[in-house]
Amino acid sequence: MDFLLPLFGRFHPLFVHLPIGILFFAVLLIFLSKKKKNNFSQVIPIAFLTGTVFAFLSAISGFFQYQHEGYTWETVRIHLILGWCTVALSAWLYFSFRSKPDVTKIRKIQSGGLLLILILTGHFGGNITHGDDYLFEVLPSGLQTFLGIEIEQSKPLELPTENWEELAFYEGAIQPILNHNCISCHNPKNMKGELDLTSSEGLLGGGEGGKIVNQGNAENSKLFSRLILPKEDEEHMPPKEKRQPRKAEIELIKAWIENGGSMDQTLGDSKVSTSLISQFFAKEKIPFYPKTTLQGISSDTLSKLREKGFFIENIALDNPLLRVSCINFPAFEDKDWELLNSVSEHIAYLDLSDSKASASILDSLGSSSNITVLKVNGLEITGENLFSLKNCQNLKLLYLNSTDVTMESLSLLDGHPTLEKVYVFKTPASSQEKKNFSFELETGDYLLPKLATDTIVY
Ligand code: HEC
Repeated sequence: MDFLLPLFGRFHPLFVHLPIGILFFAVLLIFLSKKKKNNFSQVIPIAFLTGTVFAFLSAISGFFQYQHEGYTWETVRIHLILGWCTVALSAWLYFSFRSKPDVTKIRKIQSGGLLLILILTGHFGGNITHGDDYLFEVLPSGLQTFLGIEIEQSKPLELPTENWEELAFYEGAIQPILNHNCISCHNPKNMKGELDLTSSEGLLGGGEGGKIVNQGNAENSKLFSRLILPKEDEEHMPPKEKRQPRKAEIELIKAWIENGGSMDQTLGDSKVSTSLISQFFAKEKIPFYPKTTLQGISSDTLSKLREKGFFIENIALDNPLLRVSCINFPAFEDKDWELLNSVSEHIAYLDLSDSKASASILDSLGSSSNITVLKVNGLEITGENLFSLKNCQNLKLLYLNSTDVTMESLSLLDGHPTLEKVYVFKTPASSQEKKNFSFELETGDYLLPKLATDTIVY
């Protein structure tokens, strides 16, 4: 019959909602009561009595849950004390109402107090189940910073490419892996398996089954052996429905134990292979737009160009490169390119779509060595001029939709060193057989099912 108490404990999450609703209702009745003619005087004691009974059941079941589910006294203390206060106060209100059923000012204050304690009990209970940051987590990060809430986000382990040898194996590599994968369940507040993995002391202290690290012998250390059990195994860590550590992370834990499980050995002194270490090096992010040493263009020059009709802005606040578009300048023609002479080197994004420019504009673009995105949709471009784009040494995305390009003319771009993607929707090329180029070709040759909304005229 050992299971009865833990089972009863698990009814706690069910019970707790009843006193919240019922006692709230009782307090509401008190505040709605009229002084002279109290219509609720029969109901109020009943409400307090049922509220008290369920508050009592919640408190008892909560106590058993605390006893059997590995919560520490520190974690549950406030919640537990407030819970019993709720029971006592609502019982007292019940008896006092039964003997003297009138609503006085002092009664209102007492029941207001009960409501406050009830809310606090619920709040601290919620924190135990969902974590302290449950409510704040969903706020926008700006607001969180404003409210002074520190968001504890442990990132996956990343090792520096330089000087990683100097890092302490445990502190610099193992602890971050545990922080990322384990401590949501193994921390001083929530000691699943009586194990705290937030510090070296906790780790060495072991769990309910004793030591979890057997120095020098990974197979015999639960810290490692539990991770490599089949996922279906009950003892597999982390439990199978949770995010699993990477293979390299598990290997590193193994290597740490086999190297003696020391707290002060450095990575360089251990016999960990560099190929394992290198799997944790931060991947360098290649920026989309080219790096540049160009000076920024004066705002004076930019506003003059805007007056001419160009849409023009920096691609980012601290970046001198420019985004230029003729979207508001449909009359743009080849000779207007001269207007952009002073900034041509700065252009990283150029949109000449649906303007009056001709195919030979492509020949002029060679001087703009930073063009990364080029949109010339809807221009009368057939072919040869595409060859000039070989001079655009940073071109990555090219938009040729609704032009006259063919597969043959596109082959002029084959082998372009930086070009990643070319868009050729609604062109002769899109109905031709696709060729294999060094870049990706978007022909738009897929048919979207017609939606009812497609035919609505707005
Ligand atoms: C979702 C919660 C959760 C996560 C995440 C989690 N564990 Fe556990 N862990 C448990 C529970 C619950 C137990 C107790 C039940 C058991 O022994 O299987 C436990 C027990 C253990 C034990 C046995 C302790 C003992 O002495 O018996 C070890 C070792 C362990 N976990 C290691 C880890 C490691 C290492 C990680 C991260 C890679 C991890 N756990 C992540 C929930 C978790």
